[in-house]
Amino acid sequence: MGNMNLTEIKKKYKTEAEELVILRNINLNIDPKTITVITGESGCGKSTLLNIIGGLDRPDGGSISVNGRDLSRMTEAQLSEYRSKTVGFIFQFHYLLKDFTCLENVMMPFYMAGSSRKSAVSKAEKLLERVNLAGRINHYPTQMSGGERQRAALARALMNDPDYLLADEPTGNLDEENSRVVETLLFDMVRDYGKTLLLVTHDTELAGRGDSEYFLHKGELTLK
Ligand SMILES: Nc1ncnc2c1ncn2[C@@H]1O[C@H](COP(=O)(O)OP(=O)(O)OP(=O)(O)O)[C@@H](O)[C@H]1O
Ligand SMILES: [Mg+2]
Repeated sequence: MGNMNLTEIKKKYKTEAEELVILRNINLNIDPKTITVITGESGCGKSTLLNIIGGLDRPDGGSISVNGRDLSRMTEAQLSEYRSKTVGFIFQFHYLLKDFTCLENVMMPFYMAGSSRKSAVSKAEKLLERVNLAGRINHYPTQMSGGERQRAALARALMNDPDYLLADEPTGNLDEENSRVVETLLFDMVRDYGKTLLLVTHDTELAGRGDSEYFLHKGELTLK
């Protein structure tokens, strides 16, 4: 596993009335197996930045190198592989598919990537056990609590064994108690599995538990 390096990343949005510069000049280096936390007020561009890093959106300038590969030089096919295998996403909203069981939702990324159903099931079951959902594998998302759904989303994000986990306010929709459960699992699993975590959060207690903490303000990052 290499590192992730962002150099002079810029992003602006054009609307009819104006041009909004959201990311002005983002420079960030993330070492393997570390936890980096980004905080910042609503609308400052945290999700925009995470989406760019995850290959869901493209910057207007600058470059991103991940494990020695330049994201801007990837073809659509390479980017799609990057999104499915190099990074795993956890969002504020779980995005579990409502017509599939917990187990099916978790195994889907692995199965889609071409593995056999049998190995996908066994891997998903192990991860679900790790997030304490062994007793809920046949439940549909509507039959799960908010905390359970986020734990399933965490298992799903780890299914393809990505080097990087990108978490955008993963506890934002949970109450205090469930937030603590999910964040403890997230941090423990990132450490146990040797993952690199980039976490966006409003939760100041959570923010303080990373290896490095940045504040995003007026399009630039500063180390806290
Ligand atoms: N497609 C778009 N077109 C125009 N402006 C946009 C677009 N997407 C986002 N923005 C603007 O970019 C800014 C950054 O949005 P972003 O979602 O990254 O903020 P955020 O820091 O994640 O906020 P929050 O903490 O509320 O989730 C916002 O002011 C938003 O209105
Ligand atoms: Mg956001």
